[in-house]
Amino acid sequence: MRTMMKKLAAIAVAGVASTPALTQSGNPSRGERDFRACAPCHSLEPDRNMTGPSLANLWGRQAGGLASFERYSDALKASGIIWDDRSLDGWLTDPQHMVPDNAMTFEGITDAAVRADLLAFLKEATKPGAASQQMAQPGMGGMMGGGRVPNLKSLQPSQHVTGITHCRDTYRVTTADGKTRAFWERNLRIKTDSSKDGPERGMPATVPAGMMGDRADVIFAAPDEISKMIEQRC
Ligand code: HEC
Repeated sequence: MRTMMKKLAAIAVAGVASTPALTQSGNPSRGERDFRACAPCHSLEPDRNMTGPSLANLWGRQAGGLASFERYSDALKASGIIWDDRSLDGWLTDPQHMVPDNAMTFEGITDAAVRADLLAFLKEATKPGAASQQMAQPGMGGMMGGGRVPNLKSLQPSQHVTGITHCRDTYRVTTADGKTRAFWERNLRIKTDSSKDGPERGMPATVPAGMMGDRADVIFAAPDEISKMIEQRC
């Protein structure tokens, strides 16, 4: 009888463990808050890719299947997974366990209730057309953009870089408002953004980086502009 009970208990536990977090039972507003853990890397706007692929229209998508995302791992592309309630629950529990060698640097969410909330939110927010609907609601912009980067197409004079010099260990960055700031060369980050958020060609932008005010990014439209802009001069 004892062993029988034990067996039943084991079956019950296994049954619970293999039940996917029920998206129906999750709380979408708590899930929206939980999405902050994903937002630095994932947008909900179609084809707005950041570190990770856009999650718009996720349900029913083949894993690794968003054509506009360039950086999928071979592991995810070869996984054969179709994203649905169950597979997403497994992925969010422990991505490296489900698809070894995938490229998502995220440790997973052990709490099934948190996963259920998150999936309840995502299921609505990733539906076709959901992004534009939510964009129209005041206050939702921050959420939708995920870790949205500032658009650099129209720049304040203080953001528009007109010249950069390099002298010994120092870059000096001059902006269209006539100001020049000096940076230790390890603190100036040179980047490109060729997307619709990136600067116009020939109009590199500077944005502050880090918390201490000692670092900045200079973002160009394309790599060929970089060395043309930086003048070796003391
Ligand atoms: C540090 C950045 C980062 C964070 C944080 C992150 N992801 Fe990802 N995610 C990625 C990357 C990169 C990939 C692509 C992985 C690959 O190709 O192996 C990915 C892939 C995915 C995919 C597969 C999409 C597809 O097109 O197949 C889903 C779903 C996903 N992430 C959901 C989430 C959710 C939900 C969260 C928050 C709980 C999250 N991710 C947190 C970077 C991140």
